Amino acid sequence: TEKRITARAHTNIALIKYWGKRDEKLFLPMNSSLSLTLDAFYTDTTTSFLPESQEDIFILNGVTQEKKEQEKISAFIDLFREAAGISTKIKVESTNHVPTAAGLASSASAFAALGTSLNELTGMKMDKTTLSTFVRQGSGSATRSIFGGFVEWDMGTNSFDSCAKQIDDASWDIAMLTIPVSTDKKKLSSREGMKLTVETSAFYPAWVAQAGKDLHMIKEAIAAKDFIRLGEITEANGMKMHGTMLGAIPPFSYWEPLTVKVLQKVTEIRGQGLPCYYTMDAGPNVKVLCRKSQAAEIKQILDDTFPENLSIFSGVGQGAYLLTDI
Ligand code: DP6
Repeated sequence: TEKRITARAHTNIALIKYWGKRDEKLFLPMNSSLSLTLDAFYTDTTTSFLPESQEDIFILNGVTQEKKEQEKISAFIDLFREAAGISTKIKVESTNHVPTAAGLASSASAFAALGTSLNELTGMKMDKTTLSTFVRQGSGSATRSIFGGFVEWDMGTNSFDSCAKQIDDASWDIAMLTIPVSTDKKKLSSREGMKLTVETSAFYPAWVAQAGKDLHMIKEAIAAKDFIRLGEITEANGMKMHGTMLGAIPPFSYWEPLTVKVLQKVTEIRGQGLPCYYTMDAGPNVKVLCRKSQAAEIKQILDDTFPENLSIFSGVGQGAYLLTDI
């Protein structure tokens, strides 16, 4: 009987951002980063061997993907095939579980789920740390989705030690709200955006220096379970990353008019005594870090203010795992 292996991985949101590669082929980052894994958004991926086939097959949300998409996945599968010493083609069936139609799907959960599934199917059975170095070569942010809670991706010195590790399980009073500002497909992928920034932005060297300091400080805040510090460092780091883009040539930004309104509202809510802090990735949507015990109250204010952009609550997610009994 045909072996089918299913894995689930959750998305993660960086509090200290990964922005820029020092090695594009190996996905080695310019700076270490730190994230929170979210339970609300995840990808389930099933892999199986295709002994008779000349091609891999990639089905996403029930739709067989075009050659271009399939080739990207095949290049990633090759990492596992080469390590396992096999050449059999593989079928990949993936389903994204995101609460809204589009725009919030993530390459982090996608490659973490695929890697976790392939790790079992190919018989590699690597530990999670080693697996994270493989997953990294699909998408940098996926490195961190192998683990749950607060996760650091250590930039490392080479392809073998640029890996993820859990810093804290975040089982304290933590949650995140996502405000979907726009679900349009992004104009510039994070991959292209960070490349342009590294190559042209006058602010990029300052980013690298600041990211290292921010990472050090946020780890202290996490160790002390100091939510206010955690939020302040998160908010400042995200804005510094977005600042680097304005220094690129040509300058670019992922912000939309509504993005600014949401950021202002978050600041206002905080001023009313409800601590909450924003961060943004390579898109216009806003994520708000808050205490889980205050999330419902903050969500209500945001939803009353932006009734056409209802926020999505997420608690802390766990690391990637197999759904198939083995
Ligand atoms: C802004 O992981 O999507 O979300 O490694 O090229 O696949 P590639 O890029 P990706 O970049 C994520 C950038 C970010 C910050 C972060 O998640 O750390």
